[in-house]
Amino acid sequence: MGKLDGKVTIITGGSGGIGRAAAKMFAAEGSRIILVDVDGDALQGIVAEIGAEQAASVLANVSDGEQTQTYVAAAVEKFGGVDIALLNAGIEGKIMPIAEYPEYLFDKVMAVNVRGVFLGLKYVMPAMRSRGGGNIVITSSTAGIRGSSGMSAYITSKHAVIGLMRTAALEGAEDNIRVNTVNPAPIDTRMMASIEEQKGLPTGDRSNRPLAQHMPLQRYGEADEVARLMLFLGGNDSSFCTGGVYMVDGGVSAGAV
Ligand SMILES: NC(=O)c1ccc[n+]([C@@H]2O[C@H](COP(=O)([O-])OP(=O)(O)OC[C@H]3O[C@@H](n4cnc5c(N)ncnc54)[C@H](O)[C@@H]3O)[C@@H](O)[C@H]2O)c1
Repeated sequence: MGKLDGKVTIITGGSGGIGRAAAKMFAAEGSRIILVDVDGDALQGIVAEIGAEQAASVLANVSDGEQTQTYVAAAVEKFGGVDIALLNAGIEGKIMPIAEYPEYLFDKVMAVNVRGVFLGLKYVMPAMRSRGGGNIVITSSTAGIRGSSGMSAYITSKHAVIGLMRTAALEGAEDNIRVNTVNPAPIDTRMMASIEEQKGLPTGDRSNRPLAQHMPLQRYGEADEVARLMLFLGGNDSSFCTGGVYMVDGGVSAGAV
């Protein structure tokens, strides 16, 4: 018996490193999955891996209200409702000082990372209410609790979703809807490779990544390590957890080594 038998989970950013790991883990625990992303080819591949009877995909931009309603409706039409939502889609933007940061790009990062989460909450919460409750996990970051030079838009966006999470947790409590954030430090996905490249760091050496030297555990995390925390927060093992900020960061938030 799986921990999520009979459940339906929406995962935004489902084509990406963390989203894909969560999709496979949640499916292995018995959940049916609606994967949402702008990368259609990758979506098809993950649906094929999990199996079309247990997973479906929706090509949608999370910053668009109509497309958000479409992916929520797909969960209801295909699998009968939504019990769990991992609002996980995100972009990193560029690394440059505030004075040089392009206005359009600041708006784009906020549109995907903040508006996308707002819209997810706005349309998922009523669907959960009509089903008697649900669990929402928003992917923030260590960037949500501290600053980093050159990453103004990303840092702002990851702080902002903690505010959205706290508001949603308060509003959802009476409807049995729990809402929390997971806050990863660098995880070995496309996004970190992009950040390293922009910082001009060598990306070839997978075992000794330069940024890992500043992390107490001296390594990047794996997508599965984030997915396991998502599984805890998305399932019943976390039945008394709502409104919380959950680090999965190899000790980064404890301070510098
Ligand atoms: N990798 C890390 O080190 C790290 C650390 C902390 C937090 N995070 C957060 O984890 C989440 C997942 O990131 P990841 O590491 O898997 O990166 P990733 O780039 O592999 O995955 C992100 C996914 O989001 C999708 N996406 C981007 N814009 C979208 C949009 N408008 N609509 C729908 N989908 C969209 C992308 O196509 C991609 O599949 C992000 O929110 C990221 O900010 C990542």
